[in-house]
Amino acid sequence: MGKKIKEIEEIESELKKDLKDSLSSADVDRLSTKYLGKQGKVNILFKTLPIKTDPQIGRQINELKNYIEEKISAKLAETLNTSGQAPTDVTVPGIELPKGSLHLVTQAIEEIETIFLKLGFVRRRYPEVETDWYYAEGLNIPKDHPARDDQETFYVGDNTVLTAHTSNGQLREMELKQAPPIKMINIGKTYRRQTDASHTPMFHQFEGLVIDKGINITHLLGVTEYFAKSYFGLDRKTRLRPHHFQFTEPSFEIDITCGVCHGTGIIGKTPCKICKSGWLELGGAGMVHPNVLKNGGLDPEECTGFAFGWGVERVLMMKSGLPDLRLIYSDDIRFLRQF
Ligand code: PHE
Repeated sequence: MGKKIKEIEEIESELKKDLKDSLSSADVDRLSTKYLGKQGKVNILFKTLPIKTDPQIGRQINELKNYIEEKISAKLAETLNTSGQAPTDVTVPGIELPKGSLHLVTQAIEEIETIFLKLGFVRRRYPEVETDWYYAEGLNIPKDHPARDDQETFYVGDNTVLTAHTSNGQLREMELKQAPPIKMINIGKTYRRQTDASHTPMFHQFEGLVIDKGINITHLLGVTEYFAKSYFGLDRKTRLRPHHFQFTEPSFEIDITCGVCHGTGIIGKTPCKICKSGWLELGGAGMVHPNVLKNGGLDPEECTGFAFGWGVERVLMMKSGLPDLRLIYSDDIRFLRQF
């Protein structure tokens, strides 16, 4: 192999200096153009030196070209490493972000709302901090009634409470509509001084109110059956049990057949642990008391109505078989993620 041509030696030493001065990948890119580009130094050698007459020269330029390519790509890798950038591979799949989901109480509320909207009810939300009139007095609950006992109710002031039921929505809806027909479902937060496996201080109720000419108990039964079958399943049955509420007359508790023992009360030969009797209590209901209609500005001679108030968490537990209501309001993401 002959001696290196002077021009090649010059380029090699210029490259050395240039590489040393290059700090960023952009600098290195510029070197690539300067030496290997169309008008670059290597191509100029090919054009200007007598490669046709001396094959040695062509070979030396090719070696130079390979040498430069190597040096430049090594330098490029170095600058990328030191500057922390990595070449972007746009084909690499992205990092999937964890997906959130609606809280299971919100899911239950939406499900309940959908069922009642199908029956033509309108969804309402009424105050959760309420005055004595809407919460008690107007609902025919006299001052000395045990439902007012501050063991259960959170008082905000002398005349205001955190609602322990959603029945305040009954009077508010009558005032809003001023005349029948009324068909509303009020879903909201309720508060009671209580906490155990099936009670939390804050929970939700859904309050139905239907008022029109000629509304009677069979309408209440029809709506109850429709709800029970839509929410729990077609095999469920409902029944009314006599009860007492100040704001309804007559008043009932509504039971629905247990989903575990299918209303028989026994599994195999042993009593069902969930219900003991075949029935689970859904909640209160009744025909709106004439005094309440009057207090809402309606004429009890002209129209009648029914109302019910059931617990969202209660139906959720009855359906899902969750053992402890307090889990629902824990911040344990492992639990919440399952829904
Ligand atoms: N407000 C009652 C409760 O909280 C439920 C109820 C609502 C009963 C409407 C009758 C009519 O238990």
